[in-house]
Amino acid sequence: MTSFTISDDDLQSLKDQVVVITGGSSGIGLATVKRLLGIGAKVVVGDLNEPPEPEKSQVTYLKVDATSWKEQLELFKKAKEKYGTVNHAFANAGIKPTVSLLEDDVDKNGDLLPPKLDTINVNLIGVMYTIKLAIYYIKQNSEGGSIVISGSGSSFRRFSPTDYTTTKHGVTGLVRSLYGNLHPTIPIRVNAIAPSWTDTGILSREMFAAMGDLVQPADVVARSVILLMADKNRHGEMIYSECGKFWEIEKGEDGLNQYASKMLGQSGEGPEEGVFRKLKKMAEEMAAAAKV
Ligand SMILES: NC(=O)c1ccc[n+]([C@@H]2O[C@H](COP(=O)([O-])OP(=O)(O)OC[C@H]3O[C@@H](n4cnc5c(N)ncnc54)[C@H](O)[C@@H]3O)[C@@H](O)[C@H]2O)c1
Repeated sequence: MTSFTISDDDLQSLKDQVVVITGGSSGIGLATVKRLLGIGAKVVVGDLNEPPEPEKSQVTYLKVDATSWKEQLELFKKAKEKYGTVNHAFANAGIKPTVSLLEDDVDKNGDLLPPKLDTINVNLIGVMYTIKLAIYYIKQNSEGGSIVISGSGSSFRRFSPTDYTTTKHGVTGLVRSLYGNLHPTIPIRVNAIAPSWTDTGILSREMFAAMGDLVQPADVVARSVILLMADKNRHGEMIYSECGKFWEIEKGEDGLNQYASKMLGQSGEGPEEGVFRKLKKMAEEMAAAAKV
């Protein structure tokens, strides 16, 4: 599988498009905001913190905790109220790992405490809230649009931070499950980015300094986000970026999704989806017959 490049020309079609972004005040989200503003898109940012200037004056910002359905609902309502439509959403707000499940933390009686769910709540539940709202609002626009989700290199391989990797595998699950439910039936494409180490606020300056050349600037990742929004042929994809290079790793004959079938000597999508579709059809026919 060979890497590819992204030219500025590939990104221009988002002029005047309305884009809702969670976590747009720092790192990959902020780099995406900067690029979108440069292209002439209308950007609506939901984040716990305000974006820095000059972006703050150029976007519509709402203080939003991504783990709150109510606050994310207000974000999408604000975008619709201000611009009349939503074309794209970037489900990006995320935090670093919280627990490994190996902790021995106990309460005052010495009983083992449940795991803290902070990372699950932001990186997975918050992302699901963004996606549900994005589907609802984008489908109201006859041209449709797209959803991009922030995955990571840990969306598809072993990575020790337990809760973080679980949420990022969840991103892969969201792209794979929504793939057949959205475009072309509902005119919304869904894709993910899977950046490797990127210079953002998620880790300390010292940690990034220690990584040296292994860290890419956030703007590299922003280009992959905008490409996935702009290119109407991209659906069900995951763009991995590492040290400034891009690979589409999920789709197509050589992609990860087909790889499992190949390993098992199966053809196409494998038996799970085919049988599920049959069962769903049977259930629908039985429900229809029961109504008669
Ligand atoms: N930096 C990396 O190396 C890297 C690699 C792969 C994936 N990612 C993913 O990229 C995404 C963006 O992270 P980043 O690296 O740019 O980090 P960042 O800390 O620079 O930016 C994250 C933004 O999300 C906001 N945020 C955090 N919790 C929130 C909440 N509950 N509600 C609303 N906003 C919230 C923060 O205020 C911040 O502005 C995350 O999903 C992260 O997992 C980062």
